[in-house]
Amino acid sequence: MTASRYISRLRLSSFRNYGTAALDLDQRHVVLTGANGSGKTNLIEAVSLLSPGRGLRRAPFDTLAQQGSEGRWAVAATVETPDGPVDLGTGSAPDETGRKVRINGANARAVEDLSAWLRILWLTPAMDGLFTGGASDRRRFLDRLVMTLIPDHGTAVSGFDNAMRQRNRLLEENADPDWLNAIEAQMATHAAALYFARLDSLQHLQKLANTGLETAFPAADLALDPLFGPDENFASSTALEQELRRHWQGSRREDTAARRTLTGPHRTDLIVVHAQKSMPAALCSTGEQKALLIGLILAHARLVAEMTGITPILLLDEIAAHLDPDRRMALFSALDALGTQCWMTGTDTMLFDGLGGNAQRITVSAGRLTIRA
Ligand SMILES: Nc1ncnc2c1ncn2[C@@H]1O[C@H](COP(=O)(O)OP(=O)(O)O)[C@@H](O)[C@H]1O
Ligand SMILES: [Mg+2]
Repeated sequence: MTASRYISRLRLSSFRNYGTAALDLDQRHVVLTGANGSGKTNLIEAVSLLSPGRGLRRAPFDTLAQQGSEGRWAVAATVETPDGPVDLGTGSAPDETGRKVRINGANARAVEDLSAWLRILWLTPAMDGLFTGGASDRRRFLDRLVMTLIPDHGTAVSGFDNAMRQRNRLLEENADPDWLNAIEAQMATHAAALYFARLDSLQHLQKLANTGLETAFPAADLALDPLFGPDENFASSTALEQELRRHWQGSRREDTAARRTLTGPHRTDLIVVHAQKSMPAALCSTGEQKALLIGLILAHARLVAEMTGITPILLLDEIAAHLDPDRRMALFSALDALGTQCWMTGTDTMLFDGLGGNAQRITVSAGRLTIRA
């Protein structure tokens, strides 16, 4: 395996059940094993915070500090890149609700700046119900995929949400139509940006998934729920903006009654179908759903590598245990082909025997890390 971008050094302080922890690593995969509750997920959560957003648990930042300690939490890493090593750090901010980010010792202007150095994708047991649960989880999953490709996507998503909240408030207050026109114009700008970012990303991902190297994992047919109705096709971003503004203007009364905005990209669903079986993912077996997700993440990792030149680091929490031995080997060889450093967790060291010499193995025990041979 030849990962040209990998984490070579990781330091935690006062992070969850870690007082302090230190790991020095090479480019190989990182296998973390230990009993339930030892701190495996906490460790990869720390790594996930080296990307924009709230990390793989979506936890509020002020819950990350080690309980009982006065300390602020901090995660620091050195990432080896083709342009040389870079130091990334993040930790609690003075106001405790946000976090700060440092790059090579200097405060970053925005958390998105991390994406210039590192892209991260993850799969966790919490995502097991993705296809059977509500649309909002799938939307968030999709937006995370898009953000790994287009770091600014998160800004469009939150910009839209903020503007929509303002519109809902204005509707409730029966505000002046001029104000509504202005806020709906803002919403439309964000909506068009995020709609096309989602659509373009999905189309690219679909193309790549069809030429899959992930043959052990089922291919997926991917689609976005339409905004207005079937077969819609917006010629341009401006056309979509106009359509949305027209629609929102015409649905003010209905939306006021519903006390929310009933149409828009905040209602979109990601539709996933098991391609070979033509079966909606929600109707697939639990094992098939997991395999679909793994296939999607692997294909997306290849897409990010191709489109951005940055092969993402993968964090796979408790994934190996759910695969039969053949699939597990297929996963390991797909990871090797990807040429990334993949962090994997499990309770049983034997699950990872198939990685042979391609992994460094670490035992996690009550917030302590020991590198095994
Ligand atoms: N802020 C915190 N301070 C101290 N301990 C914490 C904090 N948050 C979570 N924990 C503890 O971390 C432990 C488990 O971590 P986790 O990484 O999920 O375990 P696992 O190895 O099973 O993945 C739990 O015992 C949990 O109570
Ligand atoms: Mg865990």
